[in-house]
Amino acid sequence: MDIILLKNRAISEIQSAQNLEELEEVFRRYLGKNGEFTQILRSLGGLEQEERIRVGRETNELKNFFIEQVELKRRESHGREFQRQAEGERIDVTAPGKRVVSGHLHPLTLVQRKAVEIFSSMGFVVAEGPEVETEWYNFDALRIPPNHPARDMWDTFWLEEKQKEFEVSSPEFPKTKTPKLLLRTHTSPVQIRYMESHNPPLRIIAPGRIFRYEATDASHEINFYQLEGLMVAKDASAAHFKGVIEEFFRRFFGKLVAVRLRPSYFPFTEPSFEVDMSCLICGGKGCSSCAQAGWVEIMGAGMVHPSVFKAVKYMPRDWRGFAFGMGLDRLAMMKYKIGDIRLLYGGDLRFLQQF
Ligand code: DAH
Repeated sequence: MDIILLKNRAISEIQSAQNLEELEEVFRRYLGKNGEFTQILRSLGGLEQEERIRVGRETNELKNFFIEQVELKRRESHGREFQRQAEGERIDVTAPGKRVVSGHLHPLTLVQRKAVEIFSSMGFVVAEGPEVETEWYNFDALRIPPNHPARDMWDTFWLEEKQKEFEVSSPEFPKTKTPKLLLRTHTSPVQIRYMESHNPPLRIIAPGRIFRYEATDASHEINFYQLEGLMVAKDASAAHFKGVIEEFFRRFFGKLVAVRLRPSYFPFTEPSFEVDMSCLICGGKGCSSCAQAGWVEIMGAGMVHPSVFKAVKYMPRDWRGFAFGMGLDRLAMMKYKIGDIRLLYGGDLRFLQQF
């Protein structure tokens, strides 16, 4: 056995160990139970005395040297492994941050907020009413008679189950002669609720969600948003209404928009009109969004009917009022040139992320 060759082999194996595990394996190969050094030392007994002393000394020296070298390499590998670990964990404070995904406002919310801001600056305060309404506020107080087609179940969501609860628990029950409950079909009942609890003169707007039982298409949804307006004063007139609404459009669209009033009919106003604006999607030329008319119906309006004042115990002789109810969805569609109302409720991020 050439001790020099053995030594060289052992040293080169220590050096080529790639990690601590491999190093421990080299250690076992030489100094384990059946390791090469162990076997040499175990076989010393069969040698001549002189030979035994020489081989014994050389092997022991080699063994100590080997242990030393393994120990050195162990420390070195330990160090390197710690370093590698530390490198993996290092924080690069100069790296650009990860973008936080944040939500944003829905186009209808943007439109509602803008409308509220403009009317507020003209002295209108925001009023609210419930989405589950009584038949009296939604229809009777507004002079919509029991046989009016708007009360048909094809236009209205009636709530039979809710109604039972309401009859026993609501303090309003005795007052509302017809306590049937429904999802409000317009924001006009807020006019009644507000006038019942406030004295004139007043200026309010009531933005909110309303419900219609109907088939959906590009311009109809089963729920949508309206913004109701009401001004009651000694001398409120249709001319005031026209001035307010033209100013609103000018500020809302940031430019002059052609507006026209057409005579119409609503049970709670007299006279009544329908307000159209020139279609901003086609510039008035006619397109599918305006049914080729070049005009878009944006709100109903009129002078408050004396019987409505009576219903809220105002003296009809003393007060004049104008009222209007505009479709916020139509307004959003005109402002952002959206061709289909269903996009506003579809939750499609490709659409929503454009706002
Ligand atoms: N409530 C009506 C509707 O939903 C719109 C309306 C018409 C509101 C005339 C008004 C008004 O305040 O005066 O069709």
